[in-house]
Amino acid sequence: MITDDVVIKTEGLTKIFQKGKKREVVALDSVDLEISRGEVFGLIGTNGAGKTTLIRVLVGLLTPTEGKAYVLGKEVTEDIDYIRERVGLLPQEAGIYDRLTARENLIYYGGLYGIPEEDLNERADTLLEIVGLKDKEDYQVKGFSGGMKRKVLVARALVIEPEILFLDEPTTAIDTLGARIVRNLLKKLSSEQKRTVILTTHDLNEVKELCDRVGILNEGKLIAVGKPSELEEKFRAANLEEVFTGLVTGEGVYGGAEP
Ligand SMILES: Nc1ncnc2c1ncn2[C@@H]1O[C@H](COP(=O)(O)OP(=O)(O)OP(=O)(O)O)[C@@H](O)[C@H]1O
Ligand SMILES: [Mg+2]
Repeated sequence: MITDDVVIKTEGLTKIFQKGKKREVVALDSVDLEISRGEVFGLIGTNGAGKTTLIRVLVGLLTPTEGKAYVLGKEVTEDIDYIRERVGLLPQEAGIYDRLTARENLIYYGGLYGIPEEDLNERADTLLEIVGLKDKEDYQVKGFSGGMKRKVLVARALVIEPEILFLDEPTTAIDTLGARIVRNLLKKLSSEQKRTVILTTHDLNEVKELCDRVGILNEGKLIAVGKPSELEEKFRAANLEEVFTGLVTGEGVYGGAEP
């Protein structure tokens, strides 16, 4: 049953990439997951665990090999246009328009969603101010540093005011102060506006600070899901890093298995 509150649901979601004739990679392996409206959900896992693949399936950039994925009550292979209008995406490797200015990147992107220019101008003002690029808004992005480009992309994902935001490593390459600003912004979006945020990160402190729940992906399998503090308790671990390392290496968590 999909209730109004569950905005993302996957059932046995599997994605297999064919590599040459014989080799295949199971990037997602029977993933069952539910995410509720207003949650900040963190996806963690080692390089190649399947995080980006999961996001790409949920926004319709990849077709699942098996299983189902529902976003806002619609199945991704059936109603992707409906979904795309309502979700924002910050890709891991983002296609930013280098020749446009920071501001133009936001306005152009929002225009693709049919948002009136007046609204876009207002939102661009606010967002560029928040990410600290207001004074550079009229510079071409090609002269920006990696972190500055990332900030433009965070703002770009937000300019359409999506119901669900998918952010693939939003704070990677962003400095400590900038990362804090981004985290605060995401927290606010979830608590004040009930927007749902799904993000990936390699920073477990970020997960602890920001995420209501976290899912650990390992070799395509979702091996643990819960509140960070719940997972620590469940595995009697001192911190999330211990949980993560113990589970992902298969060595087990120091404090022992489930009580
Ligand atoms: N387009 C593709 N074609 C073939 N294989 C792919 C493709 N995209 C991903 N893969 C493979 O699927 C697996 C999962 O990759 P994915 O990018 O989802 O990992 P990730 O968890 O996002 O890793 P990272 O932390 O490095 O970003 C990897 O083995 C990767 O090589
Ligand atoms: Mg990735």
